[in-house]
Amino acid sequence: LERQFESAVLDGCHVVITAGPTREALDPVRYISNHSSGKMGYALARAAQEAGARVTLISGPVTLTTPDRCQRVNVSSALEMLDAALNVVSDCDIFIASAAVADYRPAAVAEQKIKKSGDEIQLTLVKNPDIVATIASHAERPFTVGFAAETTDVAAYAKGKLARKNLDMIVANDVSQPGIGFNSDDNAVTLYWPDGEQAFAAMSKQALARELILAIAQRYTAVLG
Ligand code: CTP
Ligand code: CA
Repeated sequence: LERQFESAVLDGCHVVITAGPTREALDPVRYISNHSSGKMGYALARAAQEAGARVTLISGPVTLTTPDRCQRVNVSSALEMLDAALNVVSDCDIFIASAAVADYRPAAVAEQKIKKSGDEIQLTLVKNPDIVATIASHAERPFTVGFAAETTDVAAYAKGKLARKNLDMIVANDVSQPGIGFNSDDNAVTLYWPDGEQAFAAMSKQALARELILAIAQRYTAVLG
């Protein structure tokens, strides 16, 4: 692995990675969000940089340090994350979407803090754009890799997303297993592409990131011919 990394499998590539959660504001003091530490995305950014790539990390709010020599673009909402992705898409070779994007946002953002009143309140939410699917359908489409966080029927849902979003590869993450994923330092995943798959046993997110970057680089090179 070390030797392969030293041979710089991603030399000259621009890799763009989304990471962390998004925050969808309800009012000036409240938001809707997802669990996401950003650790997997940041580990991928570090691994891609070590493999020779120029790396742009489009990051939702996390408490992690930016990996060395990676360009970090901070965003908060899904719409901001989409904007940041579209800003770099025409200059991107590989796009990896590890962010936990909120699927819906409040239909309206209250200008002032919403005051407590009755025993129940209702929120109207509207669907956010799908960032990775938008990038994968772009005219200047990069090699596009998604993630699938699932609690059940992991393989079937992941393969469905691979096809539906027109992705080149998808990393399937079983988030129902205790001790891996989410805030953990360890993760176990299966990587799917249209005519193959590769399972990765539980290991540190940084070790897994290196394995994933190698597998992505191999497939990217094969697809480019
Ligand atoms: N994703 C995205 N933009 C969204 C939602 C998801 O780019 N608005 C990306 C994620 O970063 C991930 C992939 O799509 O790479 C799959 O995310 P996931 O939440 O597992 O799938 P969804 O398509 O949102 O479906 P669901 O949440 O219903 O399982
Ligand atoms: Ca989702």
